[in-house]
Amino acid sequence: MTLNGKHILLGVTGSIAAYKAAMLVRLLVRQGAEVRVVMTEAAKDFITPLTLATLAKHPILVENFDPTNGAWNSHISLGEWADHFVVAPATANTLAKMAHGVADNLLLCTYLSARCSVSVAPAMDLDMYRHPATQENLRILRENYGVRIIEPQEGELASGLVGKGRMAEPEQICEALGAFLAEEEGQPLAGKQILVTAGATVEPIDPVRYVSNYSTGKMGYALAEALALRGARVTLVTGAATAALRNPLGRIERVEALSAEAMYRACAERFPQMDGAVFCAAVADYTPAHPMTEKYKHEEGKPFLLELAPTHDIAAEMGRIKRPGQITFGFALETSARAEEYARHKLDAKNLDVVVLNSLRDPGAGFGTDTNKVTLIDRDAETAAVVLPLLSKEEVAAKIADRMAEKFNAIQTE
Ligand code: C5P
Repeated sequence: MTLNGKHILLGVTGSIAAYKAAMLVRLLVRQGAEVRVVMTEAAKDFITPLTLATLAKHPILVENFDPTNGAWNSHISLGEWADHFVVAPATANTLAKMAHGVADNLLLCTYLSARCSVSVAPAMDLDMYRHPATQENLRILRENYGVRIIEPQEGELASGLVGKGRMAEPEQICEALGAFLAEEEGQPLAGKQILVTAGATVEPIDPVRYVSNYSTGKMGYALAEALALRGARVTLVTGAATAALRNPLGRIERVEALSAEAMYRACAERFPQMDGAVFCAAVADYTPAHPMTEKYKHEEGKPFLLELAPTHDIAAEMGRIKRPGQITFGFALETSARAEEYARHKLDAKNLDVVVLNSLRDPGAGFGTDTNKVTLIDRDAETAAVVLPLLSKEEVAAKIADRMAEKFNAIQTE
């Protein structure tokens, strides 16, 4: 894969291997990449910003703002600009901070806010490299946050010792970046931004009581993960959920929105920027009309009447502002024998491309179980409803994510 036209953000930290960053910038630029460099303060002791700026043809960023004029160096816009962020060399110190969310310099703030893929090329003494703390930090970065590790080499180290810890050569780093980007582009949902709603909404009655439902978020969380594994960037708007979210590639942004109103606002703000959405949340259809600010004092033996007001139908309202090219999936949880008819009605009522029908009549389907049995009903008349067997929620999520990729493919080839 050529890096031609790619936006590569290079992070340089304070290791003797920082001198190799000059060669790395040069190789990247030679391959047609646009390169921006962010350095830590300590890195400046090993290589001057002037050297890197000259090679990258852009000023180097070190601090959150320019001390000469106060101009803000936005870590957010850097992270948005980049197709890939590589930290090379990555010291034990920076790796530890990345693994634990420390944000005490511009490079780390950029890492925390980056929405692109990230890799690190560790460089340190062999004992530091093999220390369990460093190994654990690398594991966290790899397994929990999807950071790619460009393995250091065996060889002579600056300390005079011989062992593993020498940063990979710039040529190898370039090759690794090419491979990462090629792999990402080959994924069926590469470059797509998908909104997923999940979990149960929580509607307050008073400061201690609420109205909610049995949704655990398992299906929606599995879906967010399946979409991310196929290359999508996922914004997961979640209500209450007991499911654990795995985010192996770091591509899922989790936004908490507990009430139907909060979830509606979170979706309305983000949906226009999305390529698609899967509405999987169990959103309350009604919410207490007058939530109390003080705890309600019950009166012995007297009934308590709770007035409920309708909430926004998020899927339907997003359906109304849906642009051509946006693909939306919704769920239908039915208990009636006329489940399929009701589900089909939602295609139009909510302007959905696909409805995923869950029938609570099927054993193993519905809330809290690890399995689900669904039928995929497509707006496209040529596609008959696909009745899937009882599968794990992860397998169901994979089928839904594959169907979403097919729908995007179909509009691209139209
Ligand atoms: O109309 P019904 O609640 O059966 O529709 C279910 C579908 O609509 C699901 O995809 C659910 O996430 C979505 N929905 C919503 N907002 C609501 C109610 C349902 O997004 N207020």
